Amino acid sequence: MSTMQGFNYRQFMQEYWQKKPCVIKGFIPNFVDPLDEHDLAGLAQESEVDSRLISQQGANWQVTQGPIDDFEPLCKGAWILLVQGVDKYIDEVNMLTDQVSDIPHWRLEDVMVSFSNEGAGVGAHIDEYDVIIVQGKGRRRWQVGLPSHFNQLVTHPLLKQIDGFDAVIDQELAPGDAIYIPPKHPHNGVALTDCLNYSIGFRAPTDLELLAGIVDESEALAAKQTRYTDPDQLALRCAQAPASLVSNGELQALTQMLQRLLESEAGQQTIVQYLSRQALPELACDEEYTKRDTLSILTQSAVLIRAPGVRPIFKEKASDTFTFYIDGGAFVAPQEIAVLTQAFISEEATHLPLNLTKIQMSLMADLCTELLNAGYWYLENA
Ligand code: SIN
Ligand code: CO
Repeated sequence: MSTMQGFNYRQFMQEYWQKKPCVIKGFIPNFVDPLDEHDLAGLAQESEVDSRLISQQGANWQVTQGPIDDFEPLCKGAWILLVQGVDKYIDEVNMLTDQVSDIPHWRLEDVMVSFSNEGAGVGAHIDEYDVIIVQGKGRRRWQVGLPSHFNQLVTHPLLKQIDGFDAVIDQELAPGDAIYIPPKHPHNGVALTDCLNYSIGFRAPTDLELLAGIVDESEALAAKQTRYTDPDQLALRCAQAPASLVSNGELQALTQMLQRLLESEAGQQTIVQYLSRQALPELACDEEYTKRDTLSILTQSAVLIRAPGVRPIFKEKASDTFTFYIDGGAFVAPQEIAVLTQAFISEEATHLPLNLTKIQMSLMADLCTELLNAGYWYLENA
């Protein structure tokens, strides 16, 4: 009942997404791990990478936050190394999200990869987000329950475990299988052998996070702000109303002000700008490109590649220009290259030369110079 044989996107969305957990046998047929535990350990040594190692010996749980220099003293008993955002460092990991490439990019958080030895896991817990966990090499037993109230189990200050749940799914996953866990569903994965797991993590803001995010991105909105006015309202305010009262009418006017701002074109663009944030690492660009360099590149036979994990997003077009966002940054393509730019940012690799008019070439060079220098795109073999 809660198992899909092979992955069918439509069926998955209709029956399971945000509704109930399921096991997907053969989520990725003929699965080959895009990395191994040594690659993962290498990433965990980097200071900009978010990693942690959790070990368990009997009732004793230890948690070490990365960067991790020396694994030897930490890898005692059952242990699991978890590395966040691997999609931003190892491009091959992005093939894992191909099956769910129709899910909007703004709903995607990252791909977290874990390596565990026999008996290891992070313990039973609940997450706030949807996750599809793909089994890499090895085997792992997954148990998933239904949302309810659970007692916290305090085994370590950095672990948010619960003291157990009734499993509605209890299955062993083999390489290429996956398990989908909706938010708030308790789960526990225990490695049966050394194994790799890839968690495709999704995200969804709360209303308050969204509001705070819009305020953080409000630079472009500042020019559009309007102030509350009440030229006629106070004459109508009930004479008996105490001065300390904020009337329902006033509250409604204030709320409508906010609504107008959010519904304006600038407000909508700001929401998209906030949704584009994805905590990209400092993307190194070895050389500073000038417009002249880029103009010459665009006329050569070369390939421009989008950096790993970079996911540009945009809203439906409301003007002749085309605005897109990457990690909270706005980029505007003028009308002459609007269509071209939409196609360009949607491709992982763009083969040059582009067949452009002189004016398009100049505008495209401006944009590509910006994108290359930000490290969001790079030139193959550069
Ligand atoms: C993992 O152990 O690989 C994922 C941990 C989780 O369930 O969130
Ligand atoms: Co979890």
